[in-house]
Amino acid sequence: MSVTGIALILFMTFHGCMNVVALFSAKGYNMICEFLGANWYAVVATLALAALALIHIVYAFILTIQNRKARGNNRYDVTDKPAKVEWASQNMLVLGIIILLGLLLHLFNFWYNMMFAEIVGVEGLHSPSDGFAWIVDTFNQPVFVCLYIIWIIALWFHLTHGFWSAIQTIGWSGHIWFNRWKIIGIIYVTLLCLMFIAVILGFALGCAPSLCCGCGAECNCGLGDLCECAKNCANAAGACCGK
Ligand code: HEM
Repeated sequence: MSVTGIALILFMTFHGCMNVVALFSAKGYNMICEFLGANWYAVVATLALAALALIHIVYAFILTIQNRKARGNNRYDVTDKPAKVEWASQNMLVLGIIILLGLLLHLFNFWYNMMFAEIVGVEGLHSPSDGFAWIVDTFNQPVFVCLYIIWIIALWFHLTHGFWSAIQTIGWSGHIWFNRWKIIGIIYVTLLCLMFIAVILGFALGCAPSLCCGCGAECNCGLGDLCECAKNCANAAGACCGK
């Protein structure tokens, strides 16, 4: 679980950095989306990622079942929860299930409309490589903004515990380094989650610099205000900023 967990955190780091580009440049973000697209290397990476996630999830269930079997019906001798045991460590499976549901929604919002659409050759509201327009559309809907924020909060709890737990399982955590890794993990995961939150709120509130570049370009969908245009116009990326 530790190796797959760390690999998934590394993927999230890459994905978070990539998404931050969308805050500043529609063109830059779509260039990355086009580079990834449904090219063979991106499809291979997606399959590898799916395998990692699957192994991580299957192991989580196996370990939980083994733990429960080992402890019998009376799962704990001491049922008073010691203050030192983190809430997240006791709820990793529940958090994991919330994260999985969030991931399924996210894959439906983006992967299905982008990579999958390109593979099967269908085009929805936007081109499969216009990741910027898909982001604008998704976070224009308050229900998705709320669900994504709940998802990221669940991820924060899951990852802050998972980070040092993985380091400990691998055996890098000695007496002195135990607390240090905990703090490093909290800082790293908080920054990671803030990157995602910044993108969600930047688009939801219409304050991402890529939406309002102030370049004075005409909005070709009849909305005077560039921010409103970028939030509502189907061709927002090209129409408003031309970045
Ligand atoms: C601000 C939040 C996020 C945005 C704007 C975003 C954006 C995207 C986009 C545009 C894609 C499609 C890429 C493509 O198919 O070419 C994608 C795919 C994906 N995202 Fe996100 N994402 C966000 C958060 C997350 C988080 C928090 C996770 C992890 C828990 C995640 C995991 C994934 C995965 C696994 C895929 C499929 C990757 C693949 O096809 O290889 N995303 N995301």
